[in-house]
Amino acid sequence: MPDYDKNIKRQLKNLRPEIEKWLKESVSEKRYNHILSVSKTAKKYAKRLGLDHYKAELSGLLHDCAKEIKNEQLLEIAKQKNIELDQLDYETPHLLHARVGAEIAKEKYGITDPDVLGGIRCHTLAEPEMTKLTMVVYLADASEPGRDRKYAAPLRKAVKEKGLEQAVLLAIDHKLLDVIKKNKKIHPLTIKARNWLLSFI
Ligand SMILES: [Fe+2]
Ligand SMILES: [Fe+2]
Repeated sequence: MPDYDKNIKRQLKNLRPEIEKWLKESVSEKRYNHILSVSKTAKKYAKRLGLDHYKAELSGLLHDCAKEIKNEQLLEIAKQKNIELDQLDYETPHLLHARVGAEIAKEKYGITDPDVLGGIRCHTLAEPEMTKLTMVVYLADASEPGRDRKYAAPLRKAVKEKGLEQAVLLAIDHKLLDVIKKNKKIHPLTIKARNWLLSFI
């Protein structure tokens, strides 16, 4: 038995040209490079951790598929799809691009795998009960080589030396400290994710 899902491998192969075409047409060069880099980094982490790297690669490739959608439309889709909304989502709908992205990946690209969808859904705010693959995508988004070295390097070191969960906790803490420094509101999903991680690591 291969240690990967054959259907996902096929799905990645079939979808890659379409996704890359969409990326080239609709996102800036900087974002294009970021997305490819997240996909590559997620693949690398997954391989190292013995996880299905095709799932990681596909999830990384789609993680920002709703990034260019305007705030108003993000809110509209979120309501349509019955995504649970916090007051903060109304104030900063941009945060919804991850959760809406998972819905788009489902609808537009026919993705059904919970790990692939989870990686897209959780990559910005995290959430409790994340799977290992979902955490890999979260971490890849925060630590791909294009990210500021000051934040990314300790995450890359942590995943190597302390493991995935500790690295994700560190990434969450970085984000929270940044939000606090800017005197901005903290999304409850991130607090829940952090409390969940602390309950077992
Ligand atoms: Fe994103
Ligand atoms: Fe991203």
